[in-house]
Amino acid sequence: MPLIRFCPSTSLITRTTCPSFCILSIPVTTLRRTRIRGFSTKAYNLDRPGDKVRNGIIGGTIVGALGFSYLYFTDTRSAVHKYQVVPLLRLIYSGDDIPVDAGGKGSGAERAHEVGLKALRVLYNLGFGLRERGAHEYLANEELGVEVLFGHNLKTPLAISAGLDKHAECIDPLFNLSPAISLLEIGCITPLPQEGNPKPRMFRLPTSSSIINRYGFNSVGADTVSVRLRDRVRRYALKHGLTEREVLDSTEIPASLWPNRLLAVQIGKNKSTVETDMEAVKRDYITCVEKLGRYADILVVNVSSPNTPGLRSLQKRESLQELLAVVVLAAQKADRKVKPKVVVKISPDSDGVEDIKGISAAVKFAGVAGVIVANTTVKRPLSVLASPQVSEEEKRVFHKEIGGLSGPVLLRNMLKLVERYSKELGDNAVVFASGGITSGKDVLEARKRGAKIVMGYTGMVYDGVGFFGRIAGEMKRVVDGGK
Ligand SMILES: Cc1cc2nc3c(=O)[nH]c(=O)nc-3n(C[C@H](O)[C@H](O)[C@H](O)COP(=O)(O)O)c2cc1C
Repeated sequence: MPLIRFCPSTSLITRTTCPSFCILSIPVTTLRRTRIRGFSTKAYNLDRPGDKVRNGIIGGTIVGALGFSYLYFTDTRSAVHKYQVVPLLRLIYSGDDIPVDAGGKGSGAERAHEVGLKALRVLYNLGFGLRERGAHEYLANEELGVEVLFGHNLKTPLAISAGLDKHAECIDPLFNLSPAISLLEIGCITPLPQEGNPKPRMFRLPTSSSIINRYGFNSVGADTVSVRLRDRVRRYALKHGLTEREVLDSTEIPASLWPNRLLAVQIGKNKSTVETDMEAVKRDYITCVEKLGRYADILVVNVSSPNTPGLRSLQKRESLQELLAVVVLAAQKADRKVKPKVVVKISPDSDGVEDIKGISAAVKFAGVAGVIVANTTVKRPLSVLASPQVSEEEKRVFHKEIGGLSGPVLLRNMLKLVERYSKELGDNAVVFASGGITSGKDVLEARKRGAKIVMGYTGMVYDGVGFFGRIAGEMKRVVDGGK
């Protein structure tokens, strides 16, 4: 009996938080009848109407609070993602990605990236996938849409560019974030698995919302990615009562498996493949097409990463047209009805008149469907350090760390390049803009200069999961005349 004394005197608390042995050890009927040293057992009468109302209110409040938290935290529009999650990840993972016991400073930007992707994946698989709630009014605005790109009507011109999901681990959780994301480019994927450069290889420059990276095509390899992509197709087929073949041969279902959205698969060569050995280089890319082409709406040939020695030399006209021609041929043999289109991603540093003419000529010669303008830059524009708030560590990273720079600093040059490529290519190829977008205005400007698709990456790293939805909303407001 002394157990009763531990129990608080309100029936609600008795029901909800009192250790279970309190209730279990004393039957309720006994409690109703018993008086113990002036301790009124009326308090334990679970049937009192007033208690029921109170319990109902408190229980309802708890359920309501849980429901509200669920809706709030899983909505990509919630401020918590930009103002709490992003800074928190940066704070927790502020090291250099070298373990402390190996003399480093612990987890850093790369680990934060991995943890972010894993969280997205786990939440999605548990049924709590982050998504943009609300009306998505921008979807109804025809001016934002991209008319029939490669056979599919896209509702917005927005895309996630390569590097964010290098290993095809997060395709559905990323598409799920927002209907504003019309295209996701996974990769870069190499034929054989490779480690990439030693860590640290990703550095933040938060004052200018920029990043320097030198991953160097760390890839699980084409076989592993192919298994992951096939698994998606099989699960989709099972869910929709189709066969794998029917999914691959449908003219309605894009390879993304999301209506009106496209999956681009970026391919590159292994580091060990010497760039001057054109036969070996071609073999690398063809291997990737053979293993991955059937799961792609678009295949992106990367010849512009600054982090694989010699890769950018493949942008020279002769090598490029030879390479692109064989990739286009291989893509036409892909084991799916709607063959993947081939697109090439170029460097913003190849911006001379001859460079642009040579690349455009190769694109036209090979019958490539599009050009992504452009990758990260090896240049170090001093405007990155313009703010008085720039830290000493940022100055060190900016001057000392080798790799490709990304972020808003790329925007101006990207816009100029988009304009030049659009003029040079005319209707021969679609221009995709990539480099430094952070607002709806940036995207509209890129479109004005001739881009059909506008891609982002670094903006999302600093803005969080609501990045693309926000941009689409801004575009709509500008198009509607500021309403
Ligand atoms: C950490 C990181 C990794 C990247 N990896 C790749 C890659 O594997 N292949 C590629 O073509 N571009 C890669 N990029 C470049 C982006 O796809 C994009 O073209 C570039 O960052 C410019 O756009 P942004 O300023 O919106 O980030 C990477 C960028 C970053 C920041």
